[in-house]
Amino acid sequence: MSLKKCMSLSAVIFILIIVFNLTGCSPRVTPEPPPVLSPAEPRQTVLFEPGDFQDPAICGACHTEIYQAWSGSKHASSWVGELFQPDFQQALAETDGAVGALCGECHAPVAFRTGQLPPFDGSEFDEISQRGISCDFCHTVSEVTEKFNTGNVSSPGPVKRGPRGDTVSPMHETMYSQLHTEAEFCGACHNVRHPESGVLIIDTYDDWLAGPYAAEGITCQDCHMTPGPGVGKNPGRSSIAGNAKEREHIATHYFVGGSSWQLSRMGSEEHARKAEENLRAAARLDLAGKLTADGLDLTVNVTNVGAGHKIPTGVTYIRQMWLEVTVVNEKGDTVFRSGYTDAENNVDQNAVFFRRLFRDKEGNATNKSWLAQEIGFDRRIPPRGTETETYSIQAAGKTFTATVRLLYRSISQAAVNAHSPGQGLLVPSVEMAKAEIKF
Ligand code: HEC
Ligand code: HEC
Ligand code: HEC
Ligand code: HEC
Ligand code: HEC
Repeated sequence: MSLKKCMSLSAVIFILIIVFNLTGCSPRVTPEPPPVLSPAEPRQTVLFEPGDFQDPAICGACHTEIYQAWSGSKHASSWVGELFQPDFQQALAETDGAVGALCGECHAPVAFRTGQLPPFDGSEFDEISQRGISCDFCHTVSEVTEKFNTGNVSSPGPVKRGPRGDTVSPMHETMYSQLHTEAEFCGACHNVRHPESGVLIIDTYDDWLAGPYAAEGITCQDCHMTPGPGVGKNPGRSSIAGNAKEREHIATHYFVGGSSWQLSRMGSEEHARKAEENLRAAARLDLAGKLTADGLDLTVNVTNVGAGHKIPTGVTYIRQMWLEVTVVNEKGDTVFRSGYTDAENNVDQNAVFFRRLFRDKEGNATNKSWLAQEIGFDRRIPPRGTETETYSIQAAGKTFTATVRLLYRSISQAAVNAHSPGQGLLVPSVEMAKAEIKF
């Protein structure tokens, strides 16, 4: 591998993150204070040459199952993503390109680190760069210096780093890397900090770190690199060639979260099914209530029983998670509804939503991450925690049945209509949990 450029310090005050430590270039510098997102040159790093990170198809020749799982995952589509691209293009347009390097380094790390990004339209990408967060990017990470904004150091070359250390491969050298077994490895990307305001746009890693799972030593890998929700085993061999050892558990590479709709649109049906299982494993609903003089009080408790971080997590400002409530009286008349989807597939705006929204410089609520100056609204359910909502309902009747569903969407219908006008795409709602009570 070769290094083309060291970072040019004269260029900028706000460029901070120097990525590679294996060279004569300076070590990575911690941003203090946080960098300024200014519409000047992109952040620069030391660049490798195109081809220094190997094509995932090469790895796939031996690591066939891992390759299949990864190919259908959101890591493989992190650049071409149907929801990523429109948001990225809008961010570029509204910041005169200032966000290009920030978003690009994480969503297209190989392209960024081999000098194919910018330009931000991806026109210089080779085939390897198109494939997003790929095998050789992850397996040549040698260090994590910052647990946000792609704070992983790359050392591409013949040595592939992994969780074993007792492996022999005919194609590459191997090295034990404890880092790959730790949440910190994921944290370099699953925490996104606005470079100017310091707002944590994505806080999954910090959130996990502060919660009960971190304290118990249950990592991201334990839940997201296992066959299904919770901790499970996937026995077998990781390679079909080269005397791979039989293992009790081979780390799965589906990297499934909650994005079942997008996975299904990518043709990754198995992944989509796993994502729905994940969503259903995450939450439980418990209802209580009492009759009042003119109706009823309904109390809904939403408990996060399965996720190692708040639900929702990640791009919570884009996702929708809300309560749908229906109350019927003894005659079968619907006396109360909340959280319904209308004829245009939009969710009732008065619904109880669990999400985060930002505030921009003028103090207005926004879901544009690049404008985030502070957190404007944050209501989510912490790991093993409960959020309670009480509905005081005026209704005619003697006895009532209340049905409550916790629903999830990857994105609002309105946002999809704006991104893809005229395509007739309908965003499905996934039921995470359901409960009923009579009183
Ligand atoms: C010719 C077959 C072959 C190819 C091609 C191949 N590998 Fe491997 N790899 C193996 C074998 C065999 C092992 C050992 C598996 C075992 O014994 O558990 C292995 C082990 C690994 C390990 C585990 C290292 C450890 O000790 O934890 C990683 C990571 C890895 N390979 C990554 C890659 C990447 C990335 C590529 C593509 C750039 C790749 N491999 C291409 C055969 C191959
Ligand atoms: C987002 C980062 C990431 C990507 C992309 C990725 N891996 Fe991994 N891989 C990991 C981590 C982390 C582990 C170790 C998980 C653990 O054991 O805790 C791992 C484990 C492995 C192992 C060892 C499996 C075992 O349990 O013995 C092999 C082999 C491997 N990966 C190959 C690949 C190949 C081939 C690809 C591409 C098709 C790939 N990886 C893509 C992060 C990644
Ligand atoms: C180089 C940065 C990077 C690293 C390292 C990384 N991720 Fe990701 N991850 C991303 C990006 C970017 C996406 C979103 C891709 C997209 O736009 O669809 C993502 C998506 C995901 C998703 C899918 C979320 C959904 O909506 O369904 C899961 C799950 C996930 N990552 C888990 C992990 C785990 C676990 C690790 C550590 C073993 C890890 N990631 C390491 C950047 C990274
Ligand atoms: C105890 C198991 C568990 C642990 C530990 C865990 N997760 Fe999750 N994660 C889940 C479940 C279940 C979901 C599905 C619910 C949801 O989407 O919020 C999920 C969802 C996600 C999503 C998708 C969010 C979306 O947009 O729908 C991402 C990304 C993610 N996790 C990343 C991580 C990372 C990174 C870590 C470690 C810092 C981690 N997870 C630790 C269980 C876990
Ligand atoms: C340091 C890594 C990192 C940076 C920088 C980053 N993202 Fe992401 N992005 C992620 C991760 C991780 C996810 C997955 C979270 C989830 O699924 O909820 C994601 C998901 C997304 C999604 C949702 C994709 C989908 O298919 O659901 C959009 C849209 C997005 N990012 C846009 C952006 C934009 C625009 C920027 C720049 C302003 C940006 N991201 C910067 C890590 C990053």
